[in-house]
Amino acid sequence: MSYRIEPTSDGSNTLYSNLFDATYHSIFGAIEESIHVFLAAGLDYVSKRNKHISILEIGFGTGLNAWLTYIHSLRNGLSVNYSTLELYPVDKEITSQLNFHDHLPCTESEKDAFDLLHALSWDEKHLLDTFSFIKHHEDFVKMEYTPSQFDCIYFDAFAPSTQPELWELDLHTRLYKALKPGGCLVTYCAKGDFKRLLKSIGYMLDPLNGPNRKHEMTRAIKA
Ligand SMILES: C[S@@+](CC[C@H](N)C(=O)[O-])C[C@H]1O[C@@H](n2cnc3c(N)ncnc32)[C@H](O)[C@@H]1O
Repeated sequence: MSYRIEPTSDGSNTLYSNLFDATYHSIFGAIEESIHVFLAAGLDYVSKRNKHISILEIGFGTGLNAWLTYIHSLRNGLSVNYSTLELYPVDKEITSQLNFHDHLPCTESEKDAFDLLHALSWDEKHLLDTFSFIKHHEDFVKMEYTPSQFDCIYFDAFAPSTQPELWELDLHTRLYKALKPGGCLVTYCAKGDFKRLLKSIGYMLDPLNGPNRKHEMTRAIKA
């Protein structure tokens, strides 16, 4: 796997993957996208009715979503069970070049948590205060998802144009089953085909503005 560090418009950087010919975040702002799509539309939404939250992340990648969720949960008195999946872990040599903590006001221990999330062993549960964390070294498509387990799914796969197989009925039907009733899936993607697929599975869709220059994002709620 080879990567390039790519700047984004909010000053935070991201990775470009040669294997996928894609960046890990929007080039219009990595931190901005992560906060807008996953924390504000997903975590904040489910934490209004429950302070004990189970999250499934599709794609650990740079660890940005996980790190921001860790910080947010500790600052806001949430107890979070965070499960993330990743088939192609990124080496420390690469993650150490990411500058997220320079673009988010954070304490030294919050800053250190970024490296810690990467350093922790795979396929084992770790408890960091009220943040319980497990990284599965697994394929999204082959993973067996337990029914009614999650309050929120951060669906942060590469775009349908890059990995169309991750935006299809079989995987999304299984993810729908893995959500608790009232839970939601959030993603930066708002393609018409994908929204129709989500509706056909049974989701109710909330039209939301996307981050930065994107007009829309998707929050899909399990009734
Ligand atoms: C858009 S990136 C995720 C960005 C990440 N959420 C972050 O905060 O940096 C998509 C991730 O999915 C991973 N991936 C691609 N195909 C996969 C598969 N079939 N199973 C598991 N991980 C996969 C890639 O290696 C990449 O890390």
